[in-house]
Amino acid sequence: MKDNKSSYDSGIYDANITNVLPYYTEFHSQVIDVAKMISRGREKGIKWLDTGCGTGTLAARALAELPDTEITLCDPSEGMLKIAKEKLKGKNISFNNIASDALAYENEFDIVTAIQSHHYYDIETRSIAVKKCCRALKEEGIFMTFENIRMSTKESDAMALDRWGQFLLDHGWTPEKVKAHQARRGVEMFPITIEQHLEMIKNAGFRSVNILWASYMQAGFWAVK
Ligand SMILES: C[S@@+](CC[C@H](N)C(=O)[O-])C[C@H]1O[C@@H](n2cnc3c(N)ncnc32)[C@H](O)[C@@H]1O
Repeated sequence: MKDNKSSYDSGIYDANITNVLPYYTEFHSQVIDVAKMISRGREKGIKWLDTGCGTGTLAARALAELPDTEITLCDPSEGMLKIAKEKLKGKNISFNNIASDALAYENEFDIVTAIQSHHYYDIETRSIAVKKCCRALKEEGIFMTFENIRMSTKESDAMALDRWGQFLLDHGWTPEKVKAHQARRGVEMFPITIEQHLEMIKNAGFRSVNILWASYMQAGFWAVK
């Protein structure tokens, strides 16, 4: 049995994730770029919560560029957190073994991020999770999330799935493995359209919701509380 809900056990996640998600590294680059913009001109480091942090790769990269940042990492998987703790040994980071819908922070953070961690939820619980992210932010704080998406029609969804399938084949997957992996959609993970994301984030209490990035079957969003 896997130690978390992603495609891979925590111990092999880092070695495999770039062969599953096209532009995975770019998701983190986009987020860090916005964080640098928010940090500019501040005397003190910003406070940043990353929920569904996985193995802590985003935090490690963020700290390399913004060393004064105060980071809190949350994830419901103990296995993922264990790897994150090893990766970030010696850094001043708080860890919390908790899922996003159970977050209890209020008005604490300048940035909250949730990168590829909410698609395991049904739509109602996902909305609660995003509301908890909003509540954790200070006024004018920024929420950034990257997520799997569903295309706007069945036809375009099938085309996008085909394109992603080719990416997986090009990265060493067998056709059988590709089919089994794609069959997780709607069963183990529940992608929604960009429009649904925008509406859900807006309804969570943000006054401005925007697209940060999109390609293949993933999109990034940024929202202001
Ligand atoms: C695909 S990984 C993404 C990890 C990391 N954010 C990254 O950028 O590599 C999905 C992560 O979401 C976590 N996760 C699963 N259910 C979650 C939930 N309800 N709330 C927060 N995180 C969750 C998993 O434990 C896993 O670490």
